Amino acid sequence: MCAAEVLRPQRFTSHPALGALLAHLPGIVLALVMVGAGLTLPAWLLALGIGVSAAALAAWWRLPVWWLAINLLFVPALWLTARADLDPGWFLAGFVLLALTSLGAIRHRVPLYLSSARAAEALAQRLPPASTLIDLGCGLGGPLARVASLRPDVRLVGVESAPLNWLLARLRLAGRAEIRLADLWRTHLGEADVVYAYLSPAAMPRLWRKAIAEMRPGSLLVSNSFAIPDAVPHEIVEVDDLSRARLLIWRMPA
Ligand SMILES: C[S@@+](CC[C@H](N)C(=O)[O-])C[C@H]1O[C@@H](n2cnc3c(N)ncnc32)[C@H](O)[C@@H]1O
Repeated sequence: MCAAEVLRPQRFTSHPALGALLAHLPGIVLALVMVGAGLTLPAWLLALGIGVSAAALAAWWRLPVWWLAINLLFVPALWLTARADLDPGWFLAGFVLLALTSLGAIRHRVPLYLSSARAAEALAQRLPPASTLIDLGCGLGGPLARVASLRPDVRLVGVESAPLNWLLARLRLAGRAEIRLADLWRTHLGEADVVYAYLSPAAMPRLWRKAIAEMRPGSLLVSNSFAIPDAVPHEIVEVDDLSRARLLIWRMPA
């Protein structure tokens, strides 16, 4: 480990959202102190200052890069939204969209975020010839679409519980993959040579138990970025994308 990494360790690796939220605190406290002390700064400047400090702290903690962008924009966007005289229907529409795309987020603690094309390419390189790949929680079908174009020999299955994601993935992959509207926890994994999962830290212990119970000996479990406590992967692939993803690969025991 180099000196810079000791001084600036990676934090909140299993709960980056918590880190992103906490990163707002210093800026908010400072803004409140300034307002309390009678400093009359324009509200837009305070909002921008909170955003910049939250993004800087997220960078210091080495959170995935999208949290930097979210932190930079979150409070300024709140300020803009509060100023704009928006019809409440827009908020309802946003809520419905969120519900349709992230139905599993609250119940299973697995929201929608997307694998990079590079992660899908690294996955495609590791698929055995004429194998079956299941993407558990296939989202909008991005990884399957990339694999379909690189590995026409592979049979592709996606499982998704959020209706809008399922529909978009199904339209995107028509004729190239079987996209099932189903709960991944009720999907048997025995047909897969490779199971790909980009879920969340909360899901990993249960996924490991399921994989051990159902997957065939020698088949591969590939997790994008999220580790399984106490299960050492057989291979780790550094993907070199914006989110600093890693593919963690376990071979199922005989
Ligand atoms: C982090 S996204 C990954 C999407 C896609 N695999 C990718 O890598 O781009 C996780 C997806 O799993 C879905 N999901 C969450 N819980 C699920 C469940 N119990 N059954 C099926 N899908 C689920 C979510 O709706 C979301 O689309």
